[in-house]
Amino acid sequence: MYDIAIISGDGIGREVMDACEYMLDKLDLEFRFTYGEAGFECFNKNGTTLPDETIKMANKSDAVLFGASTSTPGEPSPIINLRKELNVYANIRPIKSYKGVNCIRDDINFVIVRENTEGLYSQVEYGDCDKMIAERHITRNASERISKAAFNLCIKRGENKVTCVHKSNVLKKTDGVFKESFYKIAKDYPQITTEDYYVDAMAMYLLTQPQNFDVIVSSNLFGDILSDESAGLVGGLGLAPSGNIGAHNGLFEPVHGSAPDIAGKHIANPCSMILSASMMLDYLGEWEISNDIKSAVEKVIADCKIRTPDLGGDACTMDVTKAIVKELI
Ligand code: NAI
Ligand code: MG
Repeated sequence: MYDIAIISGDGIGREVMDACEYMLDKLDLEFRFTYGEAGFECFNKNGTTLPDETIKMANKSDAVLFGASTSTPGEPSPIINLRKELNVYANIRPIKSYKGVNCIRDDINFVIVRENTEGLYSQVEYGDCDKMIAERHITRNASERISKAAFNLCIKRGENKVTCVHKSNVLKKTDGVFKESFYKIAKDYPQITTEDYYVDAMAMYLLTQPQNFDVIVSSNLFGDILSDESAGLVGGLGLAPSGNIGAHNGLFEPVHGSAPDIAGKHIANPCSMILSASMMLDYLGEWEISNDIKSAVEKVIADCKIRTPDLGGDACTMDVTKAIVKELI
């Protein structure tokens, strides 16, 4: 029996979470779901984007599933704060070309490991109306920890290269520490090839040679931007799952946001949320079922028959979900 905290958020967060729960209910596993609020609608109701009860519930669970939330003007981001509260410091974002999808190439298979607890997303900003300052916190401790997570993941995936992305030619102190920490940790993994690129060059290499990357490690903002770019290489945000892993917690969520442009239409692609649940089951040690879910998603996408509009089809969220479930059982 697994205790799973479900935080749907708002917008398409709710729609893809409903789809995900529908699939989880059909699996041969026992879950106890608890539900927590977060996000824009939660703020309107409770005056906070992330209530304490939600944090407590998430902390107590075996794993957390998060949908997406619309940003609230003037308020901190609930998901960034929840990742910090749970100390899930490594944001793992796999990117892969799927058969039947119009990808830039058909041999893309890498993962972005994004530092989750500091960087420019520290949300420490101040100033007056003429000058605003955002602090960019980079610590040696968090930089070494995220590099270690990247090398370990490289071994787990059976790959042999880790690429560090930074901008240490300009951000000499902060990204100086990030890059130094990466090469310090690399010494413990002599069998793994290392390289590093400036983030601007990396944005181009992702387009010109995405097949050459295995594991990419970066700080919070760079990792966030590069992961949306990467999702664009392989069919968009509807196919981009993620996991946030720490020493004691795992939080799993699609890379996308609440997509107000399609919210309420029930046409959101559920695959990124469902693949995030597959990552959760891998984290919980349910490797076989996790792989079965990945295969079912791949099969439905490759069939090209039932797909949401972002992939050129006209199916709705639940049509795709049911097709995936049919492959599973
Ligand atoms: P977004 O990721 O919500 O949407 C970007 C584009 O991708 C839109 O055209 C959307 O329709 C499409 N898209 C996203 N997910 C899709 C799916 N599953 N199926 C089909 N199409 C999909 O990013 P955007 O528009 O920049 O942000 C919207 C809101 O979400 C904002 O309030 C933003 O702050 C918030 N946001 C929340 C995140 C989270 O909760 N983790 C992450 C990113 C943004
Ligand atoms: Mg993002």
